[in-house]
Amino acid sequence: MTNLQAKENVKLIKEQATNMEDLVALCKRRGFVFRASDIYDGINGFWDYGHLGILLKNNIRDQWWHDMVIAPPLGLDGKPLHIVGLDSSIVQNPKTWEASGHIAGFKDPMVDCKESKKRYRADHLLVYIPKNKENIACAFLDDELTKAQLKKLKKHCGSDNLDDFEVKILSELDCDILKYIVAPDVNIAGSLTEPKSFNLMFKTYVGAAATEDDVAYLRPETAQGIFLNYRNIMASSRIKPPFGIAQIGKAFRNEVTPRNFIYRSREFEQMEMEWFCPPDEAKRWFDFWIEVRHNWWKKMGVSSDNMLIRPHEKDELSHYAKEGYGTVDIEYRFPFTWPNFGELEGIAHRCDFDLSQHQKFSGTKMEYVDPQAPADRYIPHVIEPAAGLTRGMLAILAEAYTPDPSRPSKVYMKFKPKLAPIKVAILPLVNKDGMPEIAEKLYMELREYFTADLDIKQNIGKRYARHDEIGTPFCVTIDTDTLTDQTVTIRNRDTMLQKRVSLSKVKAYISEQLIL
Ligand code: GAP
Repeated sequence: MTNLQAKENVKLIKEQATNMEDLVALCKRRGFVFRASDIYDGINGFWDYGHLGILLKNNIRDQWWHDMVIAPPLGLDGKPLHIVGLDSSIVQNPKTWEASGHIAGFKDPMVDCKESKKRYRADHLLVYIPKNKENIACAFLDDELTKAQLKKLKKHCGSDNLDDFEVKILSELDCDILKYIVAPDVNIAGSLTEPKSFNLMFKTYVGAAATEDDVAYLRPETAQGIFLNYRNIMASSRIKPPFGIAQIGKAFRNEVTPRNFIYRSREFEQMEMEWFCPPDEAKRWFDFWIEVRHNWWKKMGVSSDNMLIRPHEKDELSHYAKEGYGTVDIEYRFPFTWPNFGELEGIAHRCDFDLSQHQKFSGTKMEYVDPQAPADRYIPHVIEPAAGLTRGMLAILAEAYTPDPSRPSKVYMKFKPKLAPIKVAILPLVNKDGMPEIAEKLYMELREYFTADLDIKQNIGKRYARHDEIGTPFCVTIDTDTLTDQTVTIRNRDTMLQKRVSLSKVKAYISEQLIL
């Protein structure tokens, strides 16, 4: 990258950072997402979802459940796939996590800064090492460089020309270099500690004794509950490979550096499906699920321009995806990763890793035996599309955020109407002349079918502005003409155009627009 490009990028990154700040402020102001324990100054990595947030999150969740479990996609032969649902326990027998490899391997390398008292992921810190080998280097988190960071390079390393530097990841460097590194938030070298491995699982105790024998873990992924139930589900549902088990629920990770709002939190929700198939079909299903899942995010309103499909490099593969076809991430260009991308969903080929491990640790046979051909026995291979629900909600919020200086609200949330928290607002023009009564009658009818809001207070402009800001796609206004001809106006959030529709047709009109 030339210096000019770097400077232009700095400007655009700043713009995206402002959008992100504004989005976080909007989420708080309008009641989408609040900092958890706000009155106690928060608790790092935890978030609460307010009325509009939970409506939006549930809409995303319900759509995933519908498209996976209620009406799964058509398979390679054009016939509907078989996917069943599950809601497993958050706390499982701790042997689960020994077998899954999480106790031994679910670790991140962390470093502490003795000066700033901040903690970083050593695999997220980029070290800028001057090629002229002066004994000083600067480290920054793996976002794009800001103006302040370029300044710091100039001050400590004598240059802000990126061509003069080699860039390495801290966790891949020899510890000898630590004494030369100026950490992200300080101005002297040598304040970083050596990287230490840190297990991300939250520990708890089951029962009153609370001894080391009672240790249990909050699940770090919903997937393992699916593997533990694989036999029960096969026995009770009369399904055979290929088939899927889907689950949505909370997962917990004691992340070293939770950051970027709800992107990386310590308590979050996942939407995962484990697809069990004969080993020789795994490659075809892997490609199939990558395409299906990519299209699903597009259907949810995430633009192709802001998404990419990225196969994992060999050295970033999880322990379960080392064999086979690896993992592919669907990535989204979040405002804080801009112009780069961050993981939205992973699609992994887990081979027979999990079922074989649980067979080994539990002594329970995990083989599938075809009753028609008993010689045909195998441990199914697993393809896993694993999406973040809360992270997906952030992508949808970021995608919907549309600055528009011409509007009183200056911004509107362009959700797909089907995902919008409130589908329709009913607004009597004035709070008299029989208009509130008509509005209330319409509200009572519509609320049976859609999330509707009866909004009577303030002037009409302010009410439109509020609904633009929370992304309500339709505002129905009752005015003086309604009193005589029983028609209302329906204002479209995106075009701001108004259409006159008969009162009796409002429900049908809105229903027609709620497709994905
Ligand atoms: N069962 C596989 C698995 O858990 P993962 O890539 O670690 O894979 C799947 O997680 C998805 O869960 C990610 O793509 C991301 O959307 C979401 N996710 C993971 N860690 C998260 C965190 N700390 N906060 C919010 N979402 C997270």
